[in-house]
Amino acid sequence: MSPNPQSHAAADLDRLRAAYLDLLCDSLVGRLNRDPALQDHIAGYDDEHRMNGWDWPSGAPSMIGWRRMSHLRNECERVIREGVAGDFLEAGVWRGGAAMMMRGVLKAYAVTDRKVIAADSFAGLPRDTDASDAAAFLRDAAPLAVTLDEVKAAFSRYRLLDKQVVFLKGTFADTLKSAPTEQLAILRLDGDTYTSAKDSLAALYDKLSSGGSLILDDYFLFEDFKRAIDEFRTAHDIFDPIVQIDAYGGYWIKDGRGRQGRTKR
Ligand SMILES: C[S@@+](CC[C@H](N)C(=O)[O-])C[C@H]1O[C@@H](n2cnc3c(N)ncnc32)[C@H](O)[C@@H]1O
Repeated sequence: MSPNPQSHAAADLDRLRAAYLDLLCDSLVGRLNRDPALQDHIAGYDDEHRMNGWDWPSGAPSMIGWRRMSHLRNECERVIREGVAGDFLEAGVWRGGAAMMMRGVLKAYAVTDRKVIAADSFAGLPRDTDASDAAAFLRDAAPLAVTLDEVKAAFSRYRLLDKQVVFLKGTFADTLKSAPTEQLAILRLDGDTYTSAKDSLAALYDKLSSGGSLILDDYFLFEDFKRAIDEFRTAHDIFDPIVQIDAYGGYWIKDGRGRQGRTKR
């Protein structure tokens, strides 16, 4: 039997897509070039730290570590494959790396009818962050303040800056209610604090499609961030199970009881 050229072409496409996304994932978290840690107490590059997002890279665009970045990629690929409608939004982008992965997946699948929305103060944690919040110590962390121009420049270096990316500058309380999207397939919360989680969920959870993914970067790390999520779940009778991604991160699939655990990596 002669080989089927169409199935060969499909296999080639899958292989090239995976190769691009593998490389993108490694690069965005600083694994590819063994980008040393920003923190002085960590000597140089430590792969276990970078896998788990336990340090901040000196120059790479994301601090979430390989496991959470890889999971984000898988979820973006899943909603495309399963036809879950909606845009991808991250609340809390820092240097932009996780939002760049969202855009990279759309590019790899040639998806042109979904946007990536990247929301941040682009100035670090808001000054009025409650001092008693478990993440409040980050308010004075200078490296957390990354300007919109710097984030756009990073997108541009990766050839991911175009009209499909929308930046929302300001506090979540001010920007998210009027975010330019009707429906979301991926909602990623990475603002660390109680207020950031509360404001994001209040503004956006209704827009998350059934089968869409709510990703909580620091659910298992910051107790006040977790409290805001738990309060929202109780108030809205949400029983979708929270699945742990790594030591810090968790997620649930909206209306997805029994659907969890379907990611391939
Ligand atoms: C942990 S960083 C995000 C990391 C990023 N997702 C990555 O891929 O590396 C948290 C970000 O949330 C932003 N942030 C926190 N609370 C906010 C709020 N209430 N409004 C706007 N931005 C906020 C900070 O400016 C910061 O850039």
